[in-house]
Amino acid sequence: MKKVECEISVVNSDDDFIRISKLERVCFSDAWSLTSFLNEKKNPDSVTLAAKRKYSEYKNDGLPIAGYANIHFVYGDAYINKLAVASECRKQGIGTALLEKTIETAKEKGCGVIVLDVRKSNYNARKFYLKHGFTEKGKRKNLYQNPVEEGIVMAYCSGSGETAN
Ligand SMILES: CC(C)(COP(=O)(O)OP(=O)(O)OC[C@H]1O[C@@H](n2cnc3c(N)ncnc32)[C@H](O)[C@@H]1OP(=O)(O)O)[C@@H](O)C(=O)NCCC(=O)NCCS
Repeated sequence: MKKVECEISVVNSDDDFIRISKLERVCFSDAWSLTSFLNEKKNPDSVTLAAKRKYSEYKNDGLPIAGYANIHFVYGDAYINKLAVASECRKQGIGTALLEKTIETAKEKGCGVIVLDVRKSNYNARKFYLKHGFTEKGKRKNLYQNPVEEGIVMAYCSGSGETAN
């Protein structure tokens, strides 16, 4: 299969949020609504990134956005709310590219620590974050719905002065 080529950019347009919302529904059982994504546009502490493909690349399969991430930057910390790649585009480095851009953006914003929660059963994502220098810091009981599940708290020290305890 041909490798999917993408560029990572900040999302501003409603059309891209609509595309992301569609991907979200197939990637997460407890998906954010389109309204939630559109509200992110109004939040000055939020950045949404997309892994976008060129028209010449997606015209045949109709998948303009291969992955996305949503991050909140609050009180000097970054929190990854969402990071997902379309199933047909996984294991090609797109998640890594989104995470690298997230880390770069967190550094630019002076955030020392990047935090996220992941479902306990999501071993692929846990392995993905561990590979990128995140460590597992604790558990949050019944954090997730549909189905109810424990969350694992993971953190990464971006080297901007703070440490993840
Ligand atoms: C987790 C996710 C974002 C990874 O995206 P990706 O584009 O496939 O990741 P990459 O190709 O950059 O993978 C980098 C590394 O992560 C780990 N990894 C990623 N997918 C994996 C899988 N299916 N099984 C085991 N390890 C995996 C591997 O260590 C991999 O390195 P390798 O290819 O050298 O083995 C993707 O699987 C996904 O969208 N999952 C569904 C949504 C989700 O669970 N998001 C995270 C919750 S916050």
